[in-house]
Amino acid sequence: MRAYEHENFVNSSLLSSLLESSPDVIIFALDRHYRYLVFNSKHRETMRAIWGKEIAVGTSMLDVIGNDADREAAKRSFDRTLMGEHFSTEEAYGDEKLARLYWRIFWAPIRNDDGDVIGLTCFNMDITEHKLAEAELDNYRHHLEQLVDTRTAELVIAKDAAEAANRAKSSFLANMSHELRTPMNGIMGMIDMAKRRMADAKGLDQLDKAKLSAERLLGVLNDILDISTIEAQRLVLENIPMQLVSITENLVGTLGHKATDKGLRVRVEIPSGLDNQQFQGDPLRLGQILTNLVGNAIKFTEHGEIVLRARPVRETAEALQVRFEVSDTGVGIDAEAQTRLFRSFEQADNSMTRKYGGAGLGLVISKHLVQLMGGDIGVESTPGQGSTFWFVVPLKKRAPSSTSLTPSSSRPSAE
Ligand SMILES: Nc1ncnc2c1ncn2[C@@H]1O[C@H](COP(=O)(O)OP(=O)(O)O)[C@@H](O)[C@H]1O
Ligand SMILES: [Mg+2]
Repeated sequence: MRAYEHENFVNSSLLSSLLESSPDVIIFALDRHYRYLVFNSKHRETMRAIWGKEIAVGTSMLDVIGNDADREAAKRSFDRTLMGEHFSTEEAYGDEKLARLYWRIFWAPIRNDDGDVIGLTCFNMDITEHKLAEAELDNYRHHLEQLVDTRTAELVIAKDAAEAANRAKSSFLANMSHELRTPMNGIMGMIDMAKRRMADAKGLDQLDKAKLSAERLLGVLNDILDISTIEAQRLVLENIPMQLVSITENLVGTLGHKATDKGLRVRVEIPSGLDNQQFQGDPLRLGQILTNLVGNAIKFTEHGEIVLRARPVRETAEALQVRFEVSDTGVGIDAEAQTRLFRSFEQADNSMTRKYGGAGLGLVISKHLVQLMGGDIGVESTPGQGSTFWFVVPLKKRAPSSTSLTPSSSRPSAE
């Protein structure tokens, strides 16, 4: 083989193997008049598939492209390259319905030995699949966003409706239990009157039992009234003068006999300074929390004693933070049950309901009341040894009499 033949052989076979090296890549070269200098079979097949035309060396590529917009776009890229620019583009060609294909295209000018641009090369990768996958993903993303928006809107509506229904239910319960208390009081009054006229011992015993049942029922009604009033957000705390001593005296008066009946001791340990201090607040509600805690302590203790303590923990100009504790030596509560204690209708051990009675609302009400007062409540307990229920609330100090602050003016207008 002679030298030039060898060179021709190398050039032509090297060129064709380069052109055909990838089945997915289109390669072609055009002269300054957009006529084919060379192209690979992928390009020929693609032009056939998109435009239904056969191409040959010497054909102008602009004559093959059958769509005005595509032809314009292609010519713009050809001309940019023929101006000497080296760049890449992403383009779509072909009929929208038939063979719309996406390409990433690398454009490069061909220069002669003098550096003049005499044509262009085009290296063209099919990225249709990639583009379609991207579009599909976009579609999904958009769809998902819409779905999330719709669901969120639906949930908000459902939540509002549920909350409104819940408030309506609580209001109904509050009204209902209020209405139920009136006849209950009537029944209890009548039992008292009947007792006074009853001489027969058995009859008296029956009336006593009827009274006890009526009292229990009234207790449950009161609890339901409280919890529904709280849940309907209708509970408002009083703000009147109060002293701890009268609250605890009252408490011992109502619960003391229950403790003595069971052979239990009740001790109140409150430093006298705190006991007699004048506060401003809701003595009935504070008493209700203590009554429930002490009542529970008595209910769940068989031997030993119940201690009610109170001590100041922090003081500000307006209020004294007081920690109350009710300790017993009763059955105790295991760790798992402790987590459920302050939820509606929960009893630590549901099997004990019958033995001890109660609606399981006392602690929930207590927690709500403590929170309304701006405080916190909790429990520490060892099963078999006893429990200590505690709560901390700020007790507002009674405003000192205005005369002591402004001795010069005897009766200021603001009282
Ligand atoms: N001092 C206590 N010792 C043991 N268990 C208690 C004590 N106080 C409360 N519990 C448990 O917590 C439950 C809830 O108490 P509470 O809300 O007052 O409802 P109720 O007194 O109607 O049962 C009780 O049923 C009991 O299981
Ligand atoms: Mg209770």
